Amino acid sequence: MRVLVLGSAAGGGFPQWNCRCPVCSLVWAGDARVTARTQSSLAVSADGEHWLLLNASPDLRQQIISNRALHPREGKRHSPIAGVFLTNGDIDHIAGLLTMREQQAFTVYGTGATLAQIPPGSVFGVLNRALVKTQTIALDQPCDTGLGFTVTAFAVPGKVPLYLEGETVEIGGLSESTLGLEIAGPARRFFYIPGCAEITPALLERIKGADLLFFDGTTFTDSEMVELGLSQKTAWRMGHVAMGGEKGSLAGLADCGIPRRIYIHINNTNPVLISDSPQRAIAEKAGWEIAYDGMEVVA
Ligand code: MLT
Ligand code: MN
Ligand code: ZN
Repeated sequence: MRVLVLGSAAGGGFPQWNCRCPVCSLVWAGDARVTARTQSSLAVSADGEHWLLLNASPDLRQQIISNRALHPREGKRHSPIAGVFLTNGDIDHIAGLLTMREQQAFTVYGTGATLAQIPPGSVFGVLNRALVKTQTIALDQPCDTGLGFTVTAFAVPGKVPLYLEGETVEIGGLSESTLGLEIAGPARRFFYIPGCAEITPALLERIKGADLLFFDGTTFTDSEMVELGLSQKTAWRMGHVAMGGEKGSLAGLADCGIPRRIYIHINNTNPVLISDSPQRAIAEKAGWEIAYDGMEVVA
């Protein structure tokens, strides 16, 4: 399977349009140690011709333009994109569907809870339902994409999308609202988990033996955004496990045995985005790669 990293940043992208945090400020200043990134999404293909998007980011149009494999190439209207598999209903994962209007057939896969956020009676009604199919997926069951690989969705600790949060929000629960994906071809399998609040024994058991892991790299420390005075929310409160710390993903996944591990969905405040930062060195020393837009991985 070929995997294209269309976007590697968390919601807001890097730099975020209104952000002057220390890391975004480097991009605004043109510092060579940082590279701008669009919002997270992968494209997967077994044959190089037909592609499945894992989430559709608000930056999808720019991502298609930047990736030749996704350019239309025959007839009057065409797209190599056969479908979109949604891990949740977050803005940074569904807004790109609005780019995919104009009479193009494809399939949107998601849980009932996530597909409920893109109903025909909303702005997402611009997707012509005579052409755009939605497929409600069942958790823990391989879904045959018809593209030469299956996708098995499973619940990971998370929360409902930000815009659905009520007075009280359950964080870390397992539900249809936050998914990890296992993508399996005939020979190899990999995981895409862009949002996950906690590394649990069940998660470790599930990912054991995989060839490749793309994992939530939102923040380096749990209190990163609070300490910068940008937010009242910890990473945990946003439904993300930090890289560092006792309960962090560097420690939690240190012995997972997966030969290739790549952080993705990286928030613009995360110092791993700076090529010569101590945090980048820590992540790389622990065997992690930091995803960048245009990265191509064979899985
Ligand atoms: C997240 O990953 O926490 C969300 O994308 C936040 C958001 O919706 O802005
Ligand atoms: Mn996000
Ligand atoms: Zn920033």
